[in-house]
Amino acid sequence: MFKVKNHAIPYMTFDSKMEGIKIKEDQPSTKPILRIFVDDKGGARIPLNSKFGFHLKDVHDLCDREPRFHTYGLAFHVGSDCTSLAAYQSAIETVKGFLDVFRHSPAAFTPELLDIGGGFSGSTANDEFFRDQLAPYIREQVKTLPFKRVIAEPGRFFAEESCTLRVPVIGKKRLPSGKQCITVNESVYGLFSGVLFDGFKPTFNCITRKPWASCEQFTIFGRTCDSADKIAEDVWLPNDIDDSDILEVKNIGAYSWVTASTFNGFPLPPVEVIPGSSS
Ligand SMILES: Cc1ncc(COP(=O)(O)O)c(C=O)c1O
Repeated sequence: MFKVKNHAIPYMTFDSKMEGIKIKEDQPSTKPILRIFVDDKGGARIPLNSKFGFHLKDVHDLCDREPRFHTYGLAFHVGSDCTSLAAYQSAIETVKGFLDVFRHSPAAFTPELLDIGGGFSGSTANDEFFRDQLAPYIREQVKTLPFKRVIAEPGRFFAEESCTLRVPVIGKKRLPSGKQCITVNESVYGLFSGVLFDGFKPTFNCITRKPWASCEQFTIFGRTCDSADKIAEDVWLPNDIDDSDILEVKNIGAYSWVTASTFNGFPLPPVEVIPGSSS
């Protein structure tokens, strides 16, 4: 709120009465948008609804509140990496449920903005679903809704496949259990933070050994002091992989850099923009 005060923020979401009151009292020129609870129908890889969303059953509390605060739209997020049409269908039905209630309380609601959030897959493997099913469904539905503006907040849709990491091997050992391990010059506290926070399952390609000789399964550890810094297990790699070999990890653009820290004193790595490159 302190930061918002110094900027002209046109809209701000809230999903509890307390947040709504704060917006009204501390930032009266900002229009509150109600973030509603939506059922992801099990279709989101990273569900968000255990934390966010105002429930339809509580909406009368908002309409009847005195002194009144006025809500200028609705927002939802079906959860991240969602390839289920049913999740979006359910969310749109929930929007309609809220609109039905607000229709009887025009003093509490103006349908100015609908924010359909993010969740859209960043993988080209899901392009067909997006183009042929999801986008047409959303386009059709918004035509039937009374909002003046409809916006989305795509995150991984743009970011996921835009980044590739190249990271050197800095250690190799075999555990007493017989497991082969390598350590790489990154960590789950750095660019592999998505392994911890986003269910990211990186795939590794050793680009400095081609063609690969015989392969073995490796555990891949990160460089920090923490034994929880395990990036992946049972990864097939050339068994002669060695110090300074380079592993390439594609599709690491979503929820890697943004959640990375400098834990253990390791700086974030340089980012190189390759013009005209597709990844
Ligand atoms: C409010 C909000 N909008 C948009 C996004 C982007 O989501 P995604 O990367 O799933 O598109 C997030 C991600 O957590 C979010 O919390």
